[in-house]
Amino acid sequence: MNVLVTGSNGQLGTELRRLALDSPHHFIFTDINSLPGVETVYLDISDRASIDIIAESEKVDIIVNCAAYTDVERAESEIDMAMLLNHQAVENLAGAAASRDAALIHISTDYVFSGEGNLPIREDAVPAPKGVYGSTKLAGEKALQKSACRSVIVRTSWLYSPYGRNFVKTMRSLMRSGRELKVVYDQLGCPTYAADLADALMHIIHGPRIEGNTIYHYSDEGAVSWYDFAQAIRELSGYDCRVVPCLTGEYPTKARRPHYSVLDKSAIKRAYRLEIPYWRDSLARCIDRMDDGL
Ligand SMILES: NC(=O)c1ccc[n+]([C@@H]2O[C@H](COP(=O)([O-])OP(=O)(O)OC[C@H]3O[C@@H](n4cnc5c(N)ncnc54)[C@H](OP(=O)(O)O)[C@@H]3O)[C@@H](O)[C@H]2O)c1
Repeated sequence: MNVLVTGSNGQLGTELRRLALDSPHHFIFTDINSLPGVETVYLDISDRASIDIIAESEKVDIIVNCAAYTDVERAESEIDMAMLLNHQAVENLAGAAASRDAALIHISTDYVFSGEGNLPIREDAVPAPKGVYGSTKLAGEKALQKSACRSVIVRTSWLYSPYGRNFVKTMRSLMRSGRELKVVYDQLGCPTYAADLADALMHIIHGPRIEGNTIYHYSDEGAVSWYDFAQAIRELSGYDCRVVPCLTGEYPTKARRPHYSVLDKSAIKRAYRLEIPYWRDSLARCIDRMDDGL
């Protein structure tokens, strides 16, 4: 099978590249940027004609969409750009996939939910995003479900890896400076190591033919606040700065975020017999890789 990956130089795409080395399938890694020494085919997902051309020339069977507008804060002021990448571009990919009976595996987010509950969120829960990022991602999900494309949507949360920009890297660089950090403890969710999510996506790629439109939830196991997550980053990294819990109200941001966004992963675990790692074990593995310079 021929598998086209978009946004493949981002956090998730980079982890997929590593796992693809052991896959029997042929992968085409695309992005709008390039990294030194990393083979990347240029593909802008907002350009439908280019997607059609590459899908046809590479005889693509599955598209994995790792590209997105992911800056939750900036999205509040760059609504058009967020809409273009998280909504219209998903429509483009779905249209291109459907026209050649390819399937689309698309990544979405826990931020499509309001986070007012206190129990792990199932796939059939009613979305009610609080900010622009979540709203545009939800619009992308809806466009995909309305299309004739065979698809799987995987909603994930709090993604981190040794690559790109993420909470773990930001915390480690602030902690290195030794100053006291305030981190919110009234937002609960679960971190997801991008390598674990990439492994789950590989199960889907290698699994039975994708039919219809299915949504799955995926994060690592457990439930934690950003404060607990930060403390674990500090401990596992061996830094001795002070981390102080604070309330969301003490740390004003442009984007409103869900207070509780732990995802219920029962469905994906059942469908693909997945054993999902505990978040802290995965964090330790990621930090080991970071300390080893990857
Ligand atoms: N990060 C999180 O905490 C989180 C949480 C929940 C869900 N998700 C979802 O998980 C998925 C993967 O996230 P990630 O953190 O791996 O993202 P990421 O690191 O930001 O990677 C996205 C990649 O897409 C590229 N890209 C941007 N515009 C593009 C375009 N027009 N055409 C093609 N590629 C384009 C980016 O390039 P540039 O860097 O040059 O812009 C980047 O290489 C996304 O769907 C995201 O919404 C993420």
